[in-house]
Amino acid sequence: MKFIMAIIKPFKLDEVREALTEVGIQGLTVTEVKGYGRQKGHTEIYRGTEYAVAFLPKLKLEIAVAADVADRAIEAIANAAKTGQIGDGKIFVCDLEQVMRIRTGESGGDAL
Ligand SMILES: Nc1ncnc2c1ncn2[C@@H]1O[C@H](COP(=O)(O)OP(=O)(O)OP(=O)(O)O)[C@@H](O)[C@H]1O
Ligand SMILES: [Mg+2]
Repeated sequence: MKFIMAIIKPFKLDEVREALTEVGIQGLTVTEVKGYGRQKGHTEIYRGTEYAVAFLPKLKLEIAVAADVADRAIEAIANAAKTGQIGDGKIFVCDLEQVMRIRTGESGGDAL
């Protein structure tokens, strides 16, 4: 299994969620976060306003997936989240050792 953490522009959430649904993703966690990338200290447009602050609002998506679905999920996120402008975000991928579905006690791929 793989654990995908994606930082995206907030207004891209619906598009990314729809793209992930098409890939068959069953669950997703979203958190409001703030961060910066390479342009720290420089300006970036957010909702039509130019910000010069160091930390910009982003959304963090966390998705646990079967290993054979990971590449398709990553591609779906990247395609849906891309505007081509700075600040489009990043996708981090880790190996995921274990998952447990609390209600049923299922573990591993069955728990996703
Ligand atoms: N190396 C990193 N580690 C952790 N989080 C990061 C890292 N780089 C970027 N992020 C997160 O992703 C968000 C978006 O990053 P961003 O897309 O601006 O990266 P970038 O490298 O500056 O690329 P670009 O030149 O396209 O803007 C940041 O606000 C931050 O939350
Ligand atoms: Mg940047």
